[in-house]
Amino acid sequence: MAQIQTQQQEFEADLVVDRCESVAEDVIVLDLVHPDGQPLPAWAPGAHIDLVLAPEITRQYSLCGTPGATTHYTVGILREPNGRGGSQLAHETIEKGTSIRVRGPRNHFQLVPAPRYVFIAGGIGITPILPMIAEAGAAGADWSLLYGGRSEASMAFADDLRAHGDRVTLLPGTDIAPMSQALDARLGTPLADTLVYACGPEGLLAAVEGRCASWPSGSLHLERFSPKPSDDSENVAFEVALARSGITITVPADRSIFDAVQDNGISVLGSCHEGVCGTCETVIVDLDGEVDHRDSVLNDEEKASNETMMVCVSRCRSGRITLDL
Ligand code: FES
Repeated sequence: MAQIQTQQQEFEADLVVDRCESVAEDVIVLDLVHPDGQPLPAWAPGAHIDLVLAPEITRQYSLCGTPGATTHYTVGILREPNGRGGSQLAHETIEKGTSIRVRGPRNHFQLVPAPRYVFIAGGIGITPILPMIAEAGAAGADWSLLYGGRSEASMAFADDLRAHGDRVTLLPGTDIAPMSQALDARLGTPLADTLVYACGPEGLLAAVEGRCASWPSGSLHLERFSPKPSDDSENVAFEVALARSGITITVPADRSIFDAVQDNGISVLGSCHEGVCGTCETVIVDLDGEVDHRDSVLNDEEKASNETMMVCVSRCRSGRITLDL
């Protein structure tokens, strides 16, 4: 289970783009350095940082450089013409020398030590997997990678990955049948001492989740870029006691806990406000009711434990909750 470290101050600084390079169709890679050459906070594979691309546009990007490197942070950005505008803005405005506000790093996709890994990536989902492969290799673990993309030209880092020989299976093309067959072959039977790490579009992650349903609990680790769909139509108001602040507030049906807490003048960390980044993770001190976990960060085990919740999207279905705020 992920270590619980919530609602702590985190690194925030204006970093400078030291490299801005196109590495595949619609994919740029940035190296970000401290303007004074200071070392950056340490990180581990699976970590991501926030890039504040404009006052109202903050996006999360996985660190994809050499594991633990503190001289610079490396991220890959896919241009998504039908996205919400962040990646488009990044591609249009960032160049070598650009200053960008950065927050983090934080990690909800840690690589748990294991003798063997199955890595699965779709498109830009390869970015968190790259340092994982390096770390797994350095630890002497056995590993394999399935990497799909809409075309060979769009698959960032494919040439580097080919150097790993038959550990790596590249599946370019829009036909989903080859990936589907490869997932059946790789995940159809649970393997002992093996962890599965997957990052990519929702369709791929759902396919991986389905095939891993019979694997031992804790085998599958996913990272989502976008929130799982959720239904707000049956939201109800509920009470939240704030243990450190000593007050109890009502969260209306049309407000999040995050908003209601802020409305009461209490500061709470947040970034994506859609349950994918993990910044707002808050410890549940006491629960007299049922939490409706709606985030895409915690795994099933973590949700069932009700130790923490993402207050930007998760709610209470009934009763009352006490939070460490
Ligand atoms: Fe990103 Fe809540 S602010 S998960």
